Amino acid sequence: MNDTTDTAHPVPRVVVIFGGRSEIGVELATRLAAGATVVLAARGADRLADEVAAVRAAGAAAVHTCEFDADDVAEHARLIDTIETAHGPIDTAVLAFGVLGDQARAETDTAHAVAVVHTDYVAQVSLLTELARRMRAAGRGRLVVFSSIAGARVRRANYVYGSAKAGLDGFACGLSDALHGTGVHLLIVRPGFVIGQMTQGMDPAPFSSTPAQVAEAAAAALAAGKSAVWVPWVIRPMIFVTRFVPGPIWRRMPR
Ligand SMILES: NC(=O)c1ccc[n+]([C@@H]2O[C@H](COP(=O)([O-])OP(=O)(O)OC[C@H]3O[C@@H](n4cnc5c(N)ncnc54)[C@H](OP(=O)(O)O)[C@@H]3O)[C@@H](O)[C@H]2O)c1
Repeated sequence: MNDTTDTAHPVPRVVVIFGGRSEIGVELATRLAAGATVVLAARGADRLADEVAAVRAAGAAAVHTCEFDADDVAEHARLIDTIETAHGPIDTAVLAFGVLGDQARAETDTAHAVAVVHTDYVAQVSLLTELARRMRAAGRGRLVVFSSIAGARVRRANYVYGSAKAGLDGFACGLSDALHGTGVHLLIVRPGFVIGQMTQGMDPAPFSSTPAQVAEAAAAALAAGKSAVWVPWVIRPMIFVTRFVPGPIWRRMPR
């Protein structure tokens, strides 16, 4: 496990996992836990006993939970206020929530397509903007955003989720540049296929990883001050090559 303790901040750092039941989010929380106050923000916050125990066992100074529905964007500012009033300024915010959605359904069910994009793009934009505004004012803070290989060149087979990730990746790149020199750091994590609850029942794609591997790479990239990390690293050149695949072939690519 990487030691991601930040010696620049002797008081317990406040780490918040938005989507506190996410497999990758909890794995990352355990890697950022040492000496920190960790807040797991999730729907059904009273059902986080296993996640709390895992983060506590990883050495957190304290672990708290709070109710969080990403789709309720009108509540984002109030929730951050509540967290910061109770625990102090957020040092590291991990946006780990997301839905894959049902691509076949989303192709004809407009409400479902909009719901996927709302959670995976609109809610992320809302929360990132609110967090960045406060961190910029404080002159410090770290944001972790989960993009995906699905957003690199969007495939016909999962274009709803992929388009939200493409939008999120673009937004995060721009925000990262806007935050340059402010003391606030944004890390974009770009995993390939991750074998876990989000992809349950699907055949793993080549170069799959596990939530633990994604979290390990994210923690290392965060500690090194990187602005982006691909997990595994080999998908970066793969993504580059996909740009040159002709449309008629790309159209038939599986998800
Ligand atoms: N798994 C992959 O293959 C993969 C690949 C690339 C990128 N990613 C991205 O990595 C991030 C973490 O994914 P993961 O693998 O850890 O998936 P996961 O275990 O399924 O976690 C996703 C979490 O998002 C939460 N969530 C969904 N909608 C929410 C909402 N409206 N409000 C609050 N929480 C909500 C879910 O909460 P509930 O428990 O309440 O449903 C769930 O705990 C996601 O952004 C995902 O898109 C995943």
